[in-house]
Amino acid sequence: MFTTLTIIKADVGSIGGHIAPSRRLLDTITRRIASDGESLLSDFFVGHTGDDIAILMVHPRGVGDSEIHRLAWDAFRAGTDSAKDQGLYGAGQDLLVSSFSGNVKGAGPAVAEMEFEERPNEPFLMFLADKTEPGAFNLPLYLAFADPMNTAGLLLSPEITQGFRFRVQDVSHVDGDRVIELEAPEDLYRLAALLRDNDRFVVESIRSRHDGEIAAVVSTQRLHNIAGKYTGKDDPVMLVRVQKNFPATGEILAPFAAAPYVGGFMRGSHVGPLMPVKHGTGCSYFDGPPIISCWAFCVHHGRLTEALDPFDHPFWDTVRDRAAEKALEMRRQGFSGPAMLPYSELEYGGIVKILESLESKFTVVRQDELAAV
Ligand code: 13P
Ligand code: 13P
Ligand code: MG
Ligand code: MG
Repeated sequence: MFTTLTIIKADVGSIGGHIAPSRRLLDTITRRIASDGESLLSDFFVGHTGDDIAILMVHPRGVGDSEIHRLAWDAFRAGTDSAKDQGLYGAGQDLLVSSFSGNVKGAGPAVAEMEFEERPNEPFLMFLADKTEPGAFNLPLYLAFADPMNTAGLLLSPEITQGFRFRVQDVSHVDGDRVIELEAPEDLYRLAALLRDNDRFVVESIRSRHDGEIAAVVSTQRLHNIAGKYTGKDDPVMLVRVQKNFPATGEILAPFAAAPYVGGFMRGSHVGPLMPVKHGTGCSYFDGPPIISCWAFCVHHGRLTEALDPFDHPFWDTVRDRAAEKALEMRRQGFSGPAMLPYSELEYGGIVKILESLESKFTVVRQDELAAV
């Protein structure tokens, strides 16, 4: 049986700044999907991390289906009305176009979708991150799918020793998707050379080289490319199939124990550690830190099991403490050096205006004039 998993995610308003959506907003979206999606979906789940709401839809219609995209778009529009009605902050923030034109790609919401023939048991993980960017998944995916120091299965499991094929997107390109495919392990250094640059090169999907099956998909939308100005961070989502011909659940989770520094945090303009958090966690310190949540499911004949929370475990308390320490260390240096993103990535126009206004005030002192001083 072929099943499609589609996540469409948007920030359409939150309480108290960019913290978390209201209960009523979540209920509005959930009710809308339940009623309008009845004939389209075999199952669905609505979750949030920070101020971002994700609709996970299970259906047989394949990726990029306009009815599925419309369903999510209409639910987020209904959510926006509810957010406006409640006076939530940033109501409709991620809905950047006024009318739906068949696909939410390029319209603001983040999308990640995969279609596969269900295995007899089909475990998978859904990740939602807030206050960060799609490149935040580069390092965890590289470690989980290409590094035997992290993934013992690359040495031990016959199905995955053949490695994985990475499709990487150059997200700075605006006219169509500029992509490249690289194979692990042969292309490891080339892959690392691209993936070190989280702002520009982003893992879009990963396939098994054993059977060509889809293993992981990541949303790669960049809001400021669409809007041409800062409109919130491109808080990303990801789906990963696990076990047997893919890494084990624990091998996918393990890289998040490093709480790697990522771009995002306050005003989408800083660097902070990616903290793995429990379901329902909002943002706090310095509008962050960047957070990542995970939902573990099995899907069977198009129906989801209940979700488990892999980051709700005592082990991750230690990681959270370390992430808080890393955030404090970085924040001690305010705007200086690596604490803030480079000029090319600065999300807010203010600093760009300041620097532009200073351009004409610079003077150039030549060497011979220098000698005369
Ligand atoms: P399975 O063989 O059940 O997929 O699990 C492998 C494993 O040992 C996970 O750590
Ligand atoms: P979001 O992208 O999560 O809405 O956050 C915006 C922001 O500027 C936080 O400081
Ligand atoms: Mg927001
Ligand atoms: Mg957000």
